[in-house]
Amino acid sequence: MTNDTLTITDNRTGRTYEIAVQNDTIRALDLRQIKVHDDDFGMMSYDPAYTNTASCSSQITFVDGDKGVLRYRGYPIEQLAEQSSFLEVAYLLIYGDLPDTAQLEHWEERVMHHTFVHENLAKLMQCFRYDAHPMGMLIGTIAAMSTLHADSKDIHEEKSRQKQIWRILGKLPTVAAFAYRRRIGRPYNYPDSSLTYTANLLHMMDYMNQSDYQVNPVWAKALDVLFILHADHEQNCSTSVMRGIGSSHADPYSAMAGAAAALYGPLHGGANEAVLRMLNEISTVENIPAYIEKVKAGEFRLMGFGHRVYKNHDPRARIIKKVAEDVLAETGRNSLLDIALELERIALEDEYFLSRRLYPNVDFYSGIIYQAMSFPVDMFPVLFALGRAPGWLAQWLEFIDDPEQRIARPRQVFAGSEQRDYLPLAQRG
Ligand code: CMC
Repeated sequence: MTNDTLTITDNRTGRTYEIAVQNDTIRALDLRQIKVHDDDFGMMSYDPAYTNTASCSSQITFVDGDKGVLRYRGYPIEQLAEQSSFLEVAYLLIYGDLPDTAQLEHWEERVMHHTFVHENLAKLMQCFRYDAHPMGMLIGTIAAMSTLHADSKDIHEEKSRQKQIWRILGKLPTVAAFAYRRRIGRPYNYPDSSLTYTANLLHMMDYMNQSDYQVNPVWAKALDVLFILHADHEQNCSTSVMRGIGSSHADPYSAMAGAAAALYGPLHGGANEAVLRMLNEISTVENIPAYIEKVKAGEFRLMGFGHRVYKNHDPRARIIKKVAEDVLAETGRNSLLDIALELERIALEDEYFLSRRLYPNVDFYSGIIYQAMSFPVDMFPVLFALGRAPGWLAQWLEFIDDPEQRIARPRQVFAGSEQRDYLPLAQRG
């Protein structure tokens, strides 16, 4: 045996075990041989929230939280945000390499070709109540898509998988725009596949039959960069759900509906919405110190701050701050940005945040940009979902093709009652 092993001595029995180490990781199942009695189940590791458990081996996204590094398939996020486009990044994430000219043209044509949705889906969306949250509409509608594309069940069929990928990426902006239009009581605009991915989204949301209507190119570009920044983030909560549901071999629409549901929560994709609500609640720069004191007293969290992985800075937050400046140069300054900047300044000098290594995350500024572009607050997580979709798909594909993967099924440490006998109702005190 080489030195790439870990020697464990079980002080309960005095026995010693030698366990293989690969990539600084031991196989959890190797712990199972550690037993006190022959009929013991064997040792497990206990890791609520999977803070130190690798659930897969992946080639897609690299994050170094301590150094603030994020790379998709080896390419630094800064280079992609500056030089690439969202659809090109989607191709990169899903297929592993940047496309050549012909591949990119074909890919863009295929995705944009699938932007139209079945009319049943459009009608289904009309059934949501007038005040339905667009994220709820998005989740429900993605799930419903599986009923329209029965071939999506053939998850091991290369051709079918490919088709669902085009369909999902093509149709998601349409569903998002329809959710928005339904919410504001306006008729749907159908997709215009001659536009870019994000320009088409803005067109479907905003067009009101103006003869001189044109999508604002600064907004379309800003949205494109934001989508790139959100496109993947390795094994986060929603991606783990995508893989988890995919592990039962459910179709990708059902898996993605689950992933989107996970993204909905305020600790994940709902954070940008929560940031805006927080900034509105603070309402003036003068109120910030008192607000920070309440955060430090544990009354609530500073939304848009902190990250499970980034403990130095979130590289996406730096890029997004620049996008915020570009958009606000177009739309005019926004009092919420002033509050955000001051909040950031005060928090970054405060011992509470410094000692816990809490820095602004990607959601701190994305909410302000979306607000400046006049998106309603409850559309924010929907936009996050649109950006994250290629990452979910790339991770799903990687999972399906990984021979080491099986249906996800964590273990538990049982801490409940021993066996006890059922008492008829009349005999219970
Ligand atoms: N405001 C104030 N205190 C905080 C915050 C915050 N935003 N985040 C963490 N802390 C404190 C927390 O109270 C704890 O303090 P103590 O040690 O005294 O108990 C310490 O920092 C560690 O917190 P934790 O909950 O163990 O950290 P975590 O890694 O489990 O949580 C997080 C990560 C992102 C859920 C959390 O930082 C948070 O709730 N942030 C606000 C919500 C947010 O902005 N979410 C978006 C995340 S980025 C986009 C995405 O991935 O979806």
